[in-house]
Amino acid sequence: MTQNLKDLSILLVISGGIAAYKSLELIRLLKKDGAKVRCILTEGGSHFVTPLSVSALCEEPVYTDLWSLKDETEMGHIRLSREADLIVVAPASANIIAQMAHGLAQDLASTMLLAANKPILIAPAMNHAMWVNDATCTNVNSLKNRGIKFAGPEEGDMACGEHGPGRMSEPGTIFDRIKGLLDEGMTGDSPHPLITSSPHLKSLRALVTSGPTYESLDPVRFIGNRSSGKQGHAIAQALADFGADVTLVSGPTALPDPFGVRTIRVETAQEMLAACEAALPCDIAVCAAAVSDWRASAPAEQKIKKDAEGTIPQLSLKENPDILYILSHHAQRPALVAGFAAETQGVLEHAKGKLARKGCDWILANQVGGDDKKVFGEDENHVYFISAKTTDDWGAMSKSAVGERLTQAIADYFKAIKGQMNDAAE
Ligand code: CTP
Repeated sequence: MTQNLKDLSILLVISGGIAAYKSLELIRLLKKDGAKVRCILTEGGSHFVTPLSVSALCEEPVYTDLWSLKDETEMGHIRLSREADLIVVAPASANIIAQMAHGLAQDLASTMLLAANKPILIAPAMNHAMWVNDATCTNVNSLKNRGIKFAGPEEGDMACGEHGPGRMSEPGTIFDRIKGLLDEGMTGDSPHPLITSSPHLKSLRALVTSGPTYESLDPVRFIGNRSSGKQGHAIAQALADFGADVTLVSGPTALPDPFGVRTIRVETAQEMLAACEAALPCDIAVCAAAVSDWRASAPAEQKIKKDAEGTIPQLSLKENPDILYILSHHAQRPALVAGFAAETQGVLEHAKGKLARKGCDWILANQVGGDDKKVFGEDENHVYFISAKTTDDWGAMSKSAVGERLTQAIADYFKAIKGQMNDAAE
């Protein structure tokens, strides 16, 4: 990430949710990096953090009331958004998401959001059942289709004692997402720069693989791996956010299907290959799945039992199809094929070897493993982008940011091809 936030004006809406306490830390991070932060605190938000603490951290008055004569005269709900470069809603409750989706103007925050002409980033926070409720899914989908950006939510333990997706992203992750938007030029003037400056991929079809594969040994056991699917899902989401028609072929993961993405769930490498081939033709293929290299030569039809002698069963394995290789050499090869290289050592060297061996155009390489099982299931990734011409260290960033950076690279690639075609036609 290159730029700091100096002189950037951020309008932060804090809505009702226990995660509101994390927004205080977000304000601190933004201010420390040079941003000017103004806050709207909803009535719900004020039950979790006080206007005084928000105001003290922002070093600005806090705006709470649509009908405040003083605030409306001095600032006004229209000026609040006009004077901001970026609007961030964190935490974004199910209620404020619904208000935004339906264009309701019921209080200062929802009225400002309806009148806003600036890019909006929201960090949802709610109980997992609220997050996966069809009503919320439809609302979120509708906001994404309008170009509103999301940070999270993450999966984890909830304040209510339950577990699932719906936890607000950590302040550091939201901060990185804001910087990512800045890097992409997604702040600034009306109307809706998010939409106009987004790398449009509208007419392009994309195929993404994600997650592990499970290869049966018998009806209860399988060979699998530690992949969480977070990176592949984030790529599918970013491509869809920027208008591509995305098919995600995912092995078993605990993640919800990304919004606006045709998701096909499979279990084995063979099923994954069949689903990928069925999704052809397409323009882009990104193979982020951690496909099991081997499967049992003959999976047992019944559960393998221990015998009285304690004989250790011998596994006989055979190789699985290499989906990335097959797509790269396919009669209907996508114009752009990208793969990942998860390496425990010699990352760049192995990744460059893979680029040549697999016949793909790009490899995104990262280091995995170690005692802490680094990268698996985490929200951050440190990726090296490798093509025939370049090796670029993207540094450590959130998996969503990797998805967006890759999407931007894909958009640039297709823009360049289009430019070359136009030049040739002239
Ligand atoms: N891949 C695939 N099908 C396979 C194996 C891997 O599509 N059967 C893809 C992965 O999705 C990834 C890339 O190939 O994009 C590299 O995967 P990785 O597991 O790092 O490499 P392998 O080919 O399995 O090589 P090795 O295990 O020797 O590192």
